[in-house]
Amino acid sequence: MKVNDDLLIHNVNLATMADNGADYGVVLDACVAICDDVITFAGKRNEYSGSAAETVDADGQWLLPGFVDCHTHLVFGGDRADEFEKRLNGLTYQQIAEQGGGIKSTVKATREASAQSLLSSAKARARQLAREGVTTIEVKSGYGLNLETEVKMLEVAKQLESYLPVQIETTFLGAHALPDEYKGDADGYIDYLCDTCIPYVAKHQLASTVDVFCEGIGFSPAQCERVFTAAKSHDLNIKGHVEQLSDLKGARLAASMAAISVDHIEYLSVEDVPRLNQHNTVAVLLPGAFYYLNETKKPPIDALREHQVPMAVATDLNPGSSPIASLLTCANMACVMFKLTPEEALKGITVNAAKALKLTDRGTIAPQQRADLCLWDIQYPAQLVYAINHYLPSAKWVGGKRVD
Ligand code: NIG
Ligand code: FE
Repeated sequence: MKVNDDLLIHNVNLATMADNGADYGVVLDACVAICDDVITFAGKRNEYSGSAAETVDADGQWLLPGFVDCHTHLVFGGDRADEFEKRLNGLTYQQIAEQGGGIKSTVKATREASAQSLLSSAKARARQLAREGVTTIEVKSGYGLNLETEVKMLEVAKQLESYLPVQIETTFLGAHALPDEYKGDADGYIDYLCDTCIPYVAKHQLASTVDVFCEGIGFSPAQCERVFTAAKSHDLNIKGHVEQLSDLKGARLAASMAAISVDHIEYLSVEDVPRLNQHNTVAVLLPGAFYYLNETKKPPIDALREHQVPMAVATDLNPGSSPIASLLTCANMACVMFKLTPEEALKGITVNAAKALKLTDRGTIAPQQRADLCLWDIQYPAQLVYAINHYLPSAKWVGGKRVD
């Protein structure tokens, strides 16, 4: 018989995360065939009619898509544990930011850091994500706030691919905070982002997406709109940190401009939720930041469900509001604190996380999808988001290649 596939993983249960009518897109007693870097078959074992050069007996374990962490800030200099102490001694996140700490203190450290030292610390963080089954990581700039340092961050982020079995999606977040050079002139900084930085990032293909921080301590909706317009004029995707600490109607703006996601959204009002559905905008939940900032206002999960807005879950891995290098922990937090079901949480770190990055080639186990796959020694999928720090994949394939 002609060999047409490179690999067949058989005697396996699939949580495909695809819409096949079963919870988690489950297929029991299944097999998956891979040729080059894509899946060619995923289904019942007895329905596969091809043959493969190599076979792996998965011994009844569970195969899931590689996880996608669709919102991180994992390239940064310095450390902010001192602010954790300050918050516990009574200051708020906003007060610390207003006193020149917060994002700005990381900007100082990131500007001072060499690319080499940024790479080395980012590698350690990305490795922690990868070892737990993450195969795609979105990484934002936003701690440079000048072209030179923003570019340094984006280049470092992309370099992670050479050292770890992960794919990196980069996002330009120049509109994260106002740098001191533009104190009192936020509109002038927005001019700089729109006229100098975004064209440069687009020209050199340093990022696929442009993000903003729409908030009292960030930028106004009018300023964010200008950033979005510039991004779109260069064919870049847009997304936003919106409604994290107050309701400035950033989600409404972002959705109306066809943002691929709106992130945080604790203060999103229920009447704005249908707009996300209308514009195919994914709701990205970041329970790590909610937890660290000890927030009480929760995202409008029932309304998101009712209006069938896809929900993703991400770590928001960053030095200030979410120093958590574990996507499964964040999936668990989304269940415990936001009341997602385990199925919603697992879809949130696979299929819907891929949607939040507009990556159509991953997030499910199905023909033509990238062969980013992890094998787990579990009895059923909910176990992965129930126990914290219990599970690591027993085998992993990225782009069809077996990796450690
Ligand atoms: O996603 N909200 C704004 N940006 C980050 C926090 C960055 C920081 O505190 O360094 C976030 O939570
Ligand atoms: Fe963030």
